[in-house]
Amino acid sequence: EFHRHPKEVHFASDGAFGKFDRQQLQRGFQVYKEVCSACHSLSHVAFRDLTQLGYSDPEVKAIAKGFQVPGIDPNTGEDAMRPGMPTDYFPKPFANDIAARAANNNAVPPDLSLMTKARHDGPAYVYSLLTGYQAQPAALLKEFPDAKTPNGLHYNPYFANLNLAMPPPLTSTGQVSYGDGTKATVDQMAKDVSAFLVWTAEPKLEKRKQTGWPVLGFLLFATILGYMSYKNIWYEKK
Ligand code: HEM
Repeated sequence: EFHRHPKEVHFASDGAFGKFDRQQLQRGFQVYKEVCSACHSLSHVAFRDLTQLGYSDPEVKAIAKGFQVPGIDPNTGEDAMRPGMPTDYFPKPFANDIAARAANNNAVPPDLSLMTKARHDGPAYVYSLLTGYQAQPAALLKEFPDAKTPNGLHYNPYFANLNLAMPPPLTSTGQVSYGDGTKATVDQMAKDVSAFLVWTAEPKLEKRKQTGWPVLGFLLFATILGYMSYKNIWYEKK
């Protein structure tokens, strides 16, 4: 009973008429780039996909260049890091899982591309996790003294294990400076990055939702037509 369900939170992409709010996706990307990408990869997303958020080709090129990706040294043929290109995918921040564990109290930061699909109530879960760090409740410690948060872990009632290896990544207002003037509170940054991770997990969400309406229209039309032909064919019979 100490593990909590995600908070109620709404996103522009929710519901049958849901659409992405591209300004918000850009803000969320900025949070990912400046905060989360230090530990988490986004291996299903290529830099060029960012044009869908409204970035221009030169902007995408510049963003890609800011990341180091694995490549080959053209002179020696050895593995070497090189600046990213638009066709590259977001790289892993650690050379391998051992390096990742060494830096993160023995936990590997998971890839975030599909996180909002992988967890129940994913977008709200990510938002809740980011805004859910707190002190352990006294009642918990009284009932389960062994659940005391070990050194190097952090208590978070939205995490299934209650204690997680990720330190609170969003801690202060203004941690990123938004270009569109939105005030970067912890709550706002958490919402924006969650909205962004809805996009990474399902970039074609709008297409999927919009396809349904013409289908329903056609079915309605076909039903009416069917009913009218039935009336027409059988009009003599009582
Ligand atoms: C785990 C999101 C920044 C290290 C996670 C999880 C999410 C997440 C959704 C998965 C929790 C689960 O398995 O249910 C984010 C976001 C960030 C961010 C959105 C930026 C706002 C960071 C940073 C670090 C980090 C900067 C490293 C300093 C980790 C680690 C785990 C983790 C080590 C695994 C935790 C465990 O299994 O105990 N993160 N993260 N994260 N994150 Fe982050």
